[in-house]
Amino acid sequence: MNPLSIGPVAATTAESEGVDASAVDDDRDVKIRVENVTKQFGRIIAVDDVTLDVMDSEIFALVGDNGAGKSTLMNVMSGVHAPTSGTVYVDGEAVSFSNPSDARASGIETVYQDLALMNDLDIASNIFMGQFPTNGVGPFRFIDWDETYERAEEIMHDRLGRDVNVQTEVEFFSGGERQLVAVGRALAFDPQVIILDEPTSALSVDATRLVVDTLQRLRDTGHTIVIVSHNIETVLQMADRIGVLYQGELVGIYDPADTDLERLNKLMTTGTAGAEVADD
Ligand SMILES: Nc1ncnc2c1ncn2[C@@H]1O[C@H](COP(=O)(O)OP(=O)(O)O)[C@@H](O)[C@H]1O
Ligand SMILES: [Mg+2]
Repeated sequence: MNPLSIGPVAATTAESEGVDASAVDDDRDVKIRVENVTKQFGRIIAVDDVTLDVMDSEIFALVGDNGAGKSTLMNVMSGVHAPTSGTVYVDGEAVSFSNPSDARASGIETVYQDLALMNDLDIASNIFMGQFPTNGVGPFRFIDWDETYERAEEIMHDRLGRDVNVQTEVEFFSGGERQLVAVGRALAFDPQVIILDEPTSALSVDATRLVVDTLQRLRDTGHTIVIVSHNIETVLQMADRIGVLYQGELVGIYDPADTDLERLNKLMTTGTAGAEVADD
């Protein structure tokens, strides 16, 4: 157990800056609880006894240095990896995902860093890839293009607020818009939770702004967002809470208002925020 991240010890460090993972002082529900989760790959402990709560309708960011265990923890939540030990709860129910389809069935969608878009297909086709609306019956089923475009427009225009032509090939779009198409594809499954790996990593300032605005909009319409990011500045702007991983351990959960770039960087690289936490 990590004394800085959970339990009564965390409460005593709260006056410095860390907050108890399970002591969010509002009345939202816990959407995903990760409890004492460890994930080992052979002798490597990628995630080490992590306990944290992701609240309903918040943007929770996981940060940490290379190799800190961010992707592994994210993959446990999205069904890619089963934990070696520990339990994941969704809406208070223990789940054991064998694959991402299991997570999907629990309302969790993942947007991977590579986005996996087909450049020469239009936005609508990318959104509904593999699950096009059809009409007809049995062997006489056809892609219902009217329905496909209508639903793609509903997602891009109404839910993401983007004024784009969904019949345009994805190759004509910039990084930020492409990220949103990948988010649109996740939305086609009508998830409650969207997990994104490095959603702003290769983006310009403007594109980052676009993605941040969109994710905040999704949060404000009731989605729970979990992001993994290296980009501390962006995380400080967009997240409601920030969990810091260091060598597989959760070393703290922070309110962006109570921390800053320098402290987060120090935590990410040393695992402690400095004397004031160590001495508590
Ligand atoms: N599939 C895997 N097999 C073996 N080791 C892995 C695997 N995935 C991750 N690791 C190891 O687990 C640790 C955490 O990795 P990762 O979760 O990718 O960290 P991060 O995303 O924070 O960079 C690293 O030491 C990494 O080498
Ligand atoms: Mg990673």
